[in-house]
Amino acid sequence: MIVALLNQKGGVGKTTLALHLAGRWAAEGKRIILIDADPQGSALDWSEQRAKEGLPRLFGVIGLSRDTLHREAPEIARNAVHVVIDGPPRIAALLRSALLAADLALVPAQPSPFDGWASSEMLKLIDEARIFRPNLIARFVLNRCPARTIIARETAQALASHEPPVLTSRIGQRVVFADAARTGRLVGETPNGAIAAREIASLTSELEKLA
Ligand SMILES: Nc1ncnc2c1ncn2[C@@H]1O[C@H](COP(=O)(O)OP(=O)(O)OP(=O)(O)O)[C@@H](O)[C@H]1O
Ligand SMILES: [Mg+2]
Repeated sequence: MIVALLNQKGGVGKTTLALHLAGRWAAEGKRIILIDADPQGSALDWSEQRAKEGLPRLFGVIGLSRDTLHREAPEIARNAVHVVIDGPPRIAALLRSALLAADLALVPAQPSPFDGWASSEMLKLIDEARIFRPNLIARFVLNRCPARTIIARETAQALASHEPPVLTSRIGQRVVFADAARTGRLVGETPNGAIAAREIASLTSELEKLA
């Protein structure tokens, strides 16, 4: 399966979730390739940092921020159980190409009605991609949910019938995600990361059921 983390909005957790999905699947013994489709190269930076820290390689990271991604991805996917694409912010041509490459488009968003996560631009791009990829699955995933989940619950309820639907698995607002990223780690490799790692595991199993 090719899963693309996409949202034209910056800082919603595309890279964080892409790395953790890839890491979780790799820990299950699956061969995973992560495509960094963001010209900023944050996933590549993480991978480099990880190597500097002397940590073991979990999955390969390929930098491919080109609008031909959809043509190259199937070949890459042949060598992996899952391919995870860390999508670019704002650049429409790259975003379109990543969408066309994906079996599953995952749109991370913060659980605030003001986050613009039901953003018409993203939804328009998904509709457009479905002309060429009628089987494209799209889901929102709530990231950075506050500990008191009342806001998230209200938002999720309001949008329960929304298209694309919101996944049941949610990721909390947890400093371990930021701490881990800085040192080329994943939350499961940090002292206080157990709860965060469980959230990621629940997300990966929900995604596998979708495929
Ligand atoms: N669940 C979370 N809890 C706490 N911090 C988080 C969480 N998810 C992401 N962050 C932090 O938020 C910031 C933005 O996350 P990230 O880089 O993953 O977003 P992005 O969508 O890839 O951004 P960009 O559009 O710039 O590529 C980072 O500092 C990251 O550590
Ligand atoms: Mg990013």
